[in-house]
Amino acid sequence: MEKLVIRGGATLKGEVTISGAKNAAVAVIPAALLVNGKCRIENVPEIQDVIIIRDIMDKLGAKVSFEGGVFEVDATDLQYRSAPYELVRKMRASYYLIGAMLGRFRKAEVAMPGGCDLGPRPIDQHQKGFEALGAETKVVGGVIYAEAEKLVGGNVYLDIVSVGATMNIMLAAVLAEGTTTIENAAREPHIVDLANFLNVMGANIKGAGTDVIKIKGVKSLQGGTYSIIPDQIEAGTFMVAAAATRGDVLIKNVIPKHLESITSKLEEMGVTVEEFDDSVRVSCPKDAKLNKIVIKTQPYPGFPTDMQPQIAVLLSTVKGNSTIMENVWSGGRFRYVDELKRMGANIRVDGNVATIEGVDKLTGAPLHATDLRAGAGMVIAALMAEGNTELYELRHIDRGYENLEAKFTALGADIRRVIEI
Ligand code: EPU
Repeated sequence: MEKLVIRGGATLKGEVTISGAKNAAVAVIPAALLVNGKCRIENVPEIQDVIIIRDIMDKLGAKVSFEGGVFEVDATDLQYRSAPYELVRKMRASYYLIGAMLGRFRKAEVAMPGGCDLGPRPIDQHQKGFEALGAETKVVGGVIYAEAEKLVGGNVYLDIVSVGATMNIMLAAVLAEGTTTIENAAREPHIVDLANFLNVMGANIKGAGTDVIKIKGVKSLQGGTYSIIPDQIEAGTFMVAAAATRGDVLIKNVIPKHLESITSKLEEMGVTVEEFDDSVRVSCPKDAKLNKIVIKTQPYPGFPTDMQPQIAVLLSTVKGNSTIMENVWSGGRFRYVDELKRMGANIRVDGNVATIEGVDKLTGAPLHATDLRAGAGMVIAALMAEGNTELYELRHIDRGYENLEAKFTALGADIRRVIEI
């Protein structure tokens, strides 16, 4: 078993370069199933979720290679196959195969995905979208089936703002006949990235990044080169870690606009954030007394739910009562709170609201990463804490953070991966 051994107390200082966005890469790569010809996708993070998609694409019969952050896919000669369950179940984002395969073959059969357990994860809005394009869908025995004689553009109003449903409907619609309109669409940066990728390959998508997206179906897509945007959440994680250790860190290869909700909350707490063209510098004096705040997670451009555990950790030693209202996921997103309490934090969870009463300090403890972003939060907690922390269940962190220990080590953290026999 692997664990991270982290000695707390270091002040993070220096520069860190942010990798390509996980949640863009896991949609853009399956989108290559729709393309005739070779797609070269650059700035792809080397994380477990991408490795799993590579293996799925390979099993489906696409020609794939992934080296040095460059992912090449050629799905030109692909014949229809169902997606391999043993791989699909390992990651949530495998649901993008449904939209991509439906778009390409008018048929998809994909086992219900796994990934982080953040409470119930319905896919009714994805189904609603596919059905608006003329497909029949059903979920039987944990497998999602979608099939259409032909796909014809339609209007879809999403009852709930869903990142996954917005992207999946885009995937199914690019090669449909006529125009599809998605209303109440999600506006996350990775949605714009997927639209830009598809447009570079010859699609006609307008309005991505707003709540109305129009997709005019085209006959075919052709291969090309595309570079994935920087990861908003990885950048936010390092911003919070810099503040939590009262450090001074230049976070490079970011799009500062994507970080605005995080920047403004850090500034409200009293942290200094300077924005440059493609970097942000986060600094906080050693003896800074930060302000308590209220956080409400929202779809983009609101405060991201994927930054909720990290900011909660930072707030755990801020004097007074801070509150966090989780508005995106029900259920599982506060499971890390019990781990944090074992370090001495004082947090009460009532439904979707956590009240954090700042304590003087956290103390190192053996911990488990309960999901990907909770794992990142636990790393920050360990860096802030007095003494040593041992963090287990690293598979969650490895799904979504590239070279996490190396990046923290370069900033001065004392963090080691140890194999326990
Ligand atoms: N929802 C429905 N019906 C649907 C789809 C979603 O009710 O058909 C609900 C969900 O239950 C949830 C809300 O809508 O309460 C939002 O879910 P969304 O579909 O937006 O989430 P997702 O696409 O499954 C992506 C990210 C998550 C991130 C959420 C919210 C990927 C692969 N995953 O999930 O990222 O938390 O958007 O921003 O893009 C992570 O990276 O750690 C992660 C969990």
